[in-house]
Amino acid sequence: MKRFVSFFLTVLTALNLNAQTPKYLDNNAPMEERIEDALSRMTLHEKISMLHAQSKFTSAGVPRLGIRQLNMDDGPHGCREELEWNTWSPAKWTNDYVVAFPSLTCLAATWNPDMSALYGNAISEEFAFRGKDVLLGPGVNMARTPLNGRAFEYMGEDPVLASEMVVPYIQHVQQNGVACCLKHFVLNDQETDRFRVNVNVSERALREIYLRPFEMAVKKAKTWSMMGSYNLWQNVHCCHNDALLNGILKKEWGWDGALVSDWGGTTNTQEAIYGGLDIEMGTYTDGKLRESEFTYDDYYLAKPFEQLVKDGKVPMSVLDEKVRRVLRLIFRTAMNPKKVIGNQCSEAHYEVCRQIGEEGIVLLKNEKLLPLEPAAVQGKRILVVGENATRSLTQGGGSSELKTLRDISPLEAIQQMYAGCTVMHAQGYVSGRAVYDRVDRINADENKRLHDEAVRMAREADFVIYVGGLNKNHGQDCENGDREGYNLSFGQNELIADLAAVQKNIVVVTFGGNPYAMPWLRKVPALLHCWYLGSEAGSALAGVLSGKVNPSGKLPVTFAQRLEDYSSMRFGAEGYPGTNKQVHYKEGIFMGYRWFDLPKAAQQNFLKSEHAQDLTAVGQPLFPFGFGLSYTTFRYGKPTISATGDYGWTVTVDVTNTGQRAGKEVVQLYVGRKDKSGVARPVKELKYFTKVSLQPGNTKQVNLFIRRDDLSYWDEKTHGWNIEPGTYNAYVCASSTDVRGVVSFKY
Ligand code: BGC
Repeated sequence: MKRFVSFFLTVLTALNLNAQTPKYLDNNAPMEERIEDALSRMTLHEKISMLHAQSKFTSAGVPRLGIRQLNMDDGPHGCREELEWNTWSPAKWTNDYVVAFPSLTCLAATWNPDMSALYGNAISEEFAFRGKDVLLGPGVNMARTPLNGRAFEYMGEDPVLASEMVVPYIQHVQQNGVACCLKHFVLNDQETDRFRVNVNVSERALREIYLRPFEMAVKKAKTWSMMGSYNLWQNVHCCHNDALLNGILKKEWGWDGALVSDWGGTTNTQEAIYGGLDIEMGTYTDGKLRESEFTYDDYYLAKPFEQLVKDGKVPMSVLDEKVRRVLRLIFRTAMNPKKVIGNQCSEAHYEVCRQIGEEGIVLLKNEKLLPLEPAAVQGKRILVVGENATRSLTQGGGSSELKTLRDISPLEAIQQMYAGCTVMHAQGYVSGRAVYDRVDRINADENKRLHDEAVRMAREADFVIYVGGLNKNHGQDCENGDREGYNLSFGQNELIADLAAVQKNIVVVTFGGNPYAMPWLRKVPALLHCWYLGSEAGSALAGVLSGKVNPSGKLPVTFAQRLEDYSSMRFGAEGYPGTNKQVHYKEGIFMGYRWFDLPKAAQQNFLKSEHAQDLTAVGQPLFPFGFGLSYTTFRYGKPTISATGDYGWTVTVDVTNTGQRAGKEVVQLYVGRKDKSGVARPVKELKYFTKVSLQPGNTKQVNLFIRRDDLSYWDEKTHGWNIEPGTYNAYVCASSTDVRGVVSFKY
C-alpha cells in the first residue's frame, strides 16, 4: 500500500511538473525543440540583446524567462582575472587567482593527445568553478613566421599536429559543460596590422594548411563556439565574412555552433547581419576610440539591427537563425545540468601543469652534460644566470595573461633540487619589467654591469645554468605586435657566448613561443627549450635538468638558422608583414618543414618562379620540425605496411629503447608521392604520430595509420579534395629529417 501511494505521488508530481515546466527548460526534451520553444516566447528586443555584449566578457540571456547569460573569459592557458564590467581594468577581486597551464605551443611539443585531454579537463574545471561558460581558446593559427607575437598561444606549423592536439583539448573542456571558443578563424598568423591586413592566400594553402585544424575541430571535436579573426580575407573582415562563415564553416562543414567576434572585430552592420556573425563582442562604438555610456546598445548588432528588423528591412528569419545558435550555446553550457562544479588551484591541477610542462620541454642539444643528477654534483657551485630564472612569465603577453596564486620559478626549483650545492644567481641582463618597456629604452650601463658580473661569477662556478630566451613584453611574445627580430634581445647572444667562453659546463635553457637565432650554438654543450610552462615552470624544468624526468618533447616548429630561411620571409614586405594592408602568402603550401624538405634546386626554382626578393641559398634548419632528444636512445626496426580494408593502411614498426633509462619516443609517420605527381606536392607530410613509453631494453610494436583521405590534396580546378592514383611512400621518422624507414604502397 505504502509503495503504491509513493508511486502515485511520483506520477502526480511528474504530471504536475510537466504541466508547469515549459519545454525549453526541460532538460530531457530534445535540444532543437527546446530552442524553438524558447525562441517562440522571446520578444524582438530580447532576441537582439542576445547577439551582442552586455559587458566586456558577457552576453545577455533572457532574465524574464530564466535563460542564463553567457560568461566568457580568456583563454587559452588558464582563466583570466575578472575585469570591470565595462572596462579593461582589473576588477581587483581576491577570489580569481588561478593555475597557469603551459602555453599551447608547449602542449603541442608533447606530441601527446593524452596531455591535451588532461589539459582540457583541468582548465575547464577552473573555468567552471569561476562561473564561466565559454573559454576563449584554444588557438590553432599556424606558425607561418617566427616573428608572430602570438605564436605561443597556438600549436605550431603543422595542421595535422595541431588538429590531433586540439581535438582532445576541446572534447575534454566541453565534456565538463564549458564551451571552447576556438580562435582566430582564420589566417590571423601575424599581429602586425592585425586589425586591417587582408590575407591573400591560395585556395589550396588555405584548405590544406590554415583551415585544416579548424575543420578537424569542427568535425571531430564539435567545438561549440568559434571566434572570428580581426584580419580580412577576400577583403572582408573574418568576423563577418559570408564566404568563410556561412559558405565554408556553417554550410559546407555543417557547424551548429555560435560565431563570436573577436573583441572589436565587428565593423559594419550589414556584414554583421549577413556575414555569419552570431555574437558581437568588444566593439568600441565611437570610431573604436572610446566607449559611450550606453555602449552596448550602440553595437552593430544592437539597435541598428533591431531597427532594420522593425522596419521590415531584415527578415525575422535572419535574426532567428542567430538566436538559435546562441540558445544552443547557452543550453550546452550555462544551463547544462551536467556542467561540473569544478575547482580552482587544486593540487591535481598543479600536477597536470607540471606533467604537461615536463613532456613539452625539448632537449635540443646534449654533449654528455645533462642530466645533472643532484647526487653527482653534490657540493658543487651552480650559477644560475638570466632574467627568466626569476621572472614571472605568466604575466604579460596580452589577453592570455593570468593572475596566479603561486608559481615556482626556475631559480627556486633549482635551489630546491640542488639543495646539496651552492646555488648562486646573476641576472645577466635586464629586459624591462613593464610590458611596454622596449629594448632601446633599457639602460645600457645597467645591462653591461649585469653582463660583466655574470661572466665573472661564471668563471668561479662549476656549472652555469643559463635561463633566458623571450618574454611576454611588447616586441617579444606579446599580442598586438610582432617580435622585433629573430635574435634574442637584451644582449643575450653576446652574454651566452661570453659565458660559454669562460665556462664549458653550461646548460642553456630558453623560454619562448617561437624559434630564434643561435649564433652561439656550437659553443654550448647543452640546450633545452621550454616554451612557457605556467605555474609549475621551475619544477618541470628542474625535473628535466636533474634527470628525474627524461625529456620527450619534440619541436612543433622548425628552428631555422636565419629569419630569411623561412619561406614566408623571402618575399619582402609583400610576403610579411604586408604592404598597403595586403599580405601575400606567396610560399603557398611550402611553409614550415614542407619548405625546408624541398631539395635545394626545387627551392631555387620555386623562389625564381614566384619572384622572390631574396634568392640566396636556404640554410639547413638548426633543428627540424619534430626534433627532440632524450637521455636514452631508440632503435627503429624495419617498417612493414598492410592494407586495412576500406580504411587505408597500417604501418608497423618495432621501436626499442637501447639506452639506460626509461623514456618516451614520438614516432612520426609522413606520407609523400613516390612517383611523379600531376601537381606540386611537398616531399612528405605528417599524417600520424604516436608516443610510446619504453623501459630500457624494451621493444614495442608500434602501429601507425594512414587513411585514404590522408593522400588527398585540394584541387583548385574542381574546388574539392582529390586523390591521385599512384605510388606513395610512408616515411617512419624520429623527426621530419630523421627518416628511420620507408615503405611504399599503391593507391
Ligand atoms: C584577442 C582575443 C581575446 C579577446 C578578449 C582580443 O584582443 O585577440 O584572442 O580573446 O581580445 O580578451
